[in-house]
Amino acid sequence: MPDLFVDLRSDTVTRPTAGMREAMAAAEVGDDVYGEDPSVNALEAEVAALFGHEAALFAPSGSMANQIALQLLVSPAEELLCDADAHVVTYEIGAAAAYGGISSRTWPAVGADIDPEVVAGMIRPDGYFAVPTRAIAVEQTHNRGGGGVIPLATLRDLRGVADEAGVALHCDGARIWHAHVADQVPLIEYGRLFDTLSVCLSKGLGAPVGSLVVGSAEKIERARLIRKRMGGGMRQAGILAAAGRYALAQHIDRLADDHAKAARLAEAVAPFGVLATTVRTNLVALDLTKHTLDARALAAAARAEGVLISVLGPRTARLVTHLGLSDADIDRALAALPRILAAA
Ligand SMILES: Cc1ncc(COP(=O)(O)O)c(C=O)c1O
Repeated sequence: MPDLFVDLRSDTVTRPTAGMREAMAAAEVGDDVYGEDPSVNALEAEVAALFGHEAALFAPSGSMANQIALQLLVSPAEELLCDADAHVVTYEIGAAAAYGGISSRTWPAVGADIDPEVVAGMIRPDGYFAVPTRAIAVEQTHNRGGGGVIPLATLRDLRGVADEAGVALHCDGARIWHAHVADQVPLIEYGRLFDTLSVCLSKGLGAPVGSLVVGSAEKIERARLIRKRMGGGMRQAGILAAAGRYALAQHIDRLADDHAKAARLAEAVAPFGVLATTVRTNLVALDLTKHTLDARALAAAARAEGVLISVLGPRTARLVTHLGLSDADIDRALAALPRILAAA
């Protein structure tokens, strides 16, 4: 994509910085399927320690990391509970059912505003010919929920619900780094609340590829087999792991800047009644149900002015800030978007 566009579609569009490319070029590598890539091994140990778990496993994508974790927690013909807008049941193309034989049941889409009592009420125990619930999955931050942050207190209550019922708790933490920066919750505090987490290096952190599954040593040993079965065994993946290690060292604290840029965008579009949620992190969800422009029309008009945005539904759109955007890029978007929304 030429840089004549201000690309607000996703934080996955970032390209490696010069420093990251240097780290990649210098990476020591080996065959990771043999467990012999020192850079991958170092990344896995580092991420496990960050979240206070015994082990972690490098995977090619956030979707594969989520699906490996779900297969660890839920056997075929057993049940996963999550929200109706969760990435794991919205954008992973039925993988839980296709690969894990997992039955999913959802609570209504409420983004990060989860009511633990609603979740508790959905859990089905063994017996009575019902599908037994084995795991609950939450998303931190919540993608379709406009980058909302689940409060630590809610997560603690959910941990209590899971413990009481004897079910597991998984975190799709693709953007958990943003929650950590927005709410100042140490990553280890989040880590200790979950049986498994998936965390992405290739979104806000700006690495080109890669996510990790985090959990106990026993789970990660099984995860290694599941990853290989799914075709996710990589060889000299240390080049990618080096990018991830660089991102962890250099790109977490700077997320506050992305959040500030998203807040500027939110403030500019708010007068047009199109903000779907309060903006806390780097995602700005737009709800166009009360606007004359629908999402496609808004995206087309923005594109004509050099600004790319995501269409998530007929009347739902999204703006995302990330490390590839300068202040001048945001100024350009701020000049275009309110004008387009006002003209319609
Ligand atoms: C919340 C969330 N989870 C998981 C993923 C999947 O990541 P990947 O695109 O690397 O499969 C995404 C991707 O945008 C996401 O937003």
